Amino acid sequence: MTARPAAPRAVVLVSGGGTNLQAMIDAVAGGELSLQLAGVVSDRPGVRALDRARAAGIGAWTIDYRTSPDRAACDAQLGATLARLAPDVVVLAGFMRILPAALVDHYRGRMFNVHPSLLPKFPGLDTYRRALAAGERWHGSTVHFVIPALDAGPAVLQYRVAITGDDTEDTLRGRVQRGEYLIYPRALQWFAGGRLAWRDGGPWLDGAPLGAPVVVDEGHPVP
Ligand code: GAR
Repeated sequence: MTARPAAPRAVVLVSGGGTNLQAMIDAVAGGELSLQLAGVVSDRPGVRALDRARAAGIGAWTIDYRTSPDRAACDAQLGATLARLAPDVVVLAGFMRILPAALVDHYRGRMFNVHPSLLPKFPGLDTYRRALAAGERWHGSTVHFVIPALDAGPAVLQYRVAITGDDTEDTLRGRVQRGEYLIYPRALQWFAGGRLAWRDGGPWLDGAPLGAPVVVDEGHPVP
């Protein structure tokens, strides 16, 4: 009998509430996600995500960018913390900071982010307000590989919700985030299980180049 390969080591970067982190913790506990959650790193102290990590028995570290005058030193500390934790995959989950290009390049093809829009629409902040103001019919969230340009890496999996006349920023955020808790663990499982890979400078799914993200509509099962 051959031994089962160890689950890939994941380090999750957070800045806030950590509900996506919680979805990953729950998916690992439920056997739906084969990752070893090796550490959580926050760029600010006292956030709920750190409590969630500790409650799940995951090591948690803070690099407090706000109180340090030296951004480059914080970036270096973050790089060193990641190197020490030796992740196979780096997972940005509500991490609200632009990483240095060298660090992103180091983890290229094994760094993921979730962004609350149907990229390439609405990179950056305030996506719910902007989507409503633009009169969009659809909004959603995207899991994508990270490249140095902001919110621009190849998209892997998107969750799409139809905007209704009754939607506010809050209702839209609630619906979209419920979708994130489905698609992010699933995309990570595709990667952990070898279905999704970075090859020849781009994403591949099930042995073929992935030219466009898989799209899941609200209310439909995630493949
Ligand atoms: C998530 O909804 C994620 O899409 C968004 O922050 C939220 C964090 O929530 N990320 C970004 O805006 C990144 N550009 P969480 O901390 O509760 O997971």
